[in-house]
Amino acid sequence: MKETLKSVKAREILSSGSTPSIEARVTLESGARGVFSVPYGASAGVHEAFILLDNDKKRFLGKGMLKAVENINNKIAPTLIGMSAFKQKEIDQKMIELDGSENKKKLGANAILAVSVAVARAAANEKKMPLYEYIREAFNLQIEDYRLPNPMMVMIEGGKHADQSTDFQEYSVSPIGNKSAKENVRCGIEIYLTLKKVLKEKGFSVNVGNEGAFAPNGLESNEAPISLIIEAIEKAGYKAGEEVGISLDPAVSEIFENGKYQLKKEGKSLSSAQLIELFNEWIAKYPIITLEDGLHEDDWDNWPKLNAALGEKVAIITDDLTVTNLKRLKKAIETKCGNAILIKLNQIGTLTETIETCMLARENNWMTVISHRGGGETNDTSMVDLAVAVNSGFIKVGPSRGERVCKYNRLMEIEEEIGVKRL
Ligand code: PGA
Ligand code: ZN
Repeated sequence: MKETLKSVKAREILSSGSTPSIEARVTLESGARGVFSVPYGASAGVHEAFILLDNDKKRFLGKGMLKAVENINNKIAPTLIGMSAFKQKEIDQKMIELDGSENKKKLGANAILAVSVAVARAAANEKKMPLYEYIREAFNLQIEDYRLPNPMMVMIEGGKHADQSTDFQEYSVSPIGNKSAKENVRCGIEIYLTLKKVLKEKGFSVNVGNEGAFAPNGLESNEAPISLIIEAIEKAGYKAGEEVGISLDPAVSEIFENGKYQLKKEGKSLSSAQLIELFNEWIAKYPIITLEDGLHEDDWDNWPKLNAALGEKVAIITDDLTVTNLKRLKKAIETKCGNAILIKLNQIGTLTETIETCMLARENNWMTVISHRGGGETNDTSMVDLAVAVNSGFIKVGPSRGERVCKYNRLMEIEEEIGVKRL
């Protein structure tokens, strides 16, 4: 049949952080093709699905992905060839079984995901559908109408994404006015360009970090970026709080050492309770609308306290805690750890599992935020189609560099296809 998988091929490519990654190419009997390249996370959570690296120090300092490429070409391809590309769930299940481990450590989540999304792309091409529409059909998603996600645009980055910036990882702007995707993207970019001027005037460098956001040296505190961003919002002609909110991803799993959160920049080490209090103060002072990874990835006891204290004021987003994993999300919902989840395809490793997690979140009124990866993005834009398919609240993507802006360009393209959809 024409929708049957005829070939599945992979190759090692480079991602934005100059770390290797994988591109898979699926061809159907009809000749329709699907290509997907997986991203690579810099501050990956420990509970994420396993990314298989070669660990051959003679190639790419150990970060090569030839083993995962071989797993696709020699193990996954012969298993899947002959199956219908329209059977996405069965294909994903087959790869999960072939791997047989809890976290995809045999074949590598990088190998499995590359094929999973490439299959969906080939199937969508075969049906002459955009990917977002195909995802709704393939998973029979009962979602009425489309609501395009708002951008969550990273303005200043630190932590593992930049040297000598802040302890916290991301300070973003999130346009919240009831505007079109195009206007929202323009708003974020105008703030970014204005922030560049604000930083320059104050004598900061305007070099950018992994995600294309600014990563200035010499900021006086972890709080300082917030005022700078608010200044930029206002100078760009927008109203902070009404038209644009601030989104924080302190990514504190990365700074949790010896039982405390180490704010090296300020010479402080804080307990969970003290960190919650710090965020509480900031939320009282600034127009913060979302807080992601406000506690570390195993701090199950304190997440409910964070959510109880702040969850009515801002969206409490779990990232490293839930890692797009259905079981971890279930636990987080049951124990009331938050009210929103960050979704990254390569945290879990198949399209099917990603959709299941998104739908569980929706059923429980948790907002989904589909995210780029910090360290090693590719020019693939499937994450945007995923966001549109499940009506995500936001897409989190950096404001510059080709591998980031292609996501916003895709969002605006989708808006041209389906018309302006407001949140
Ligand atoms: P990562 O960062 O891709 O490096 O994990 C993004 C995030 O933490 O949201
Ligand atoms: Zn995060």
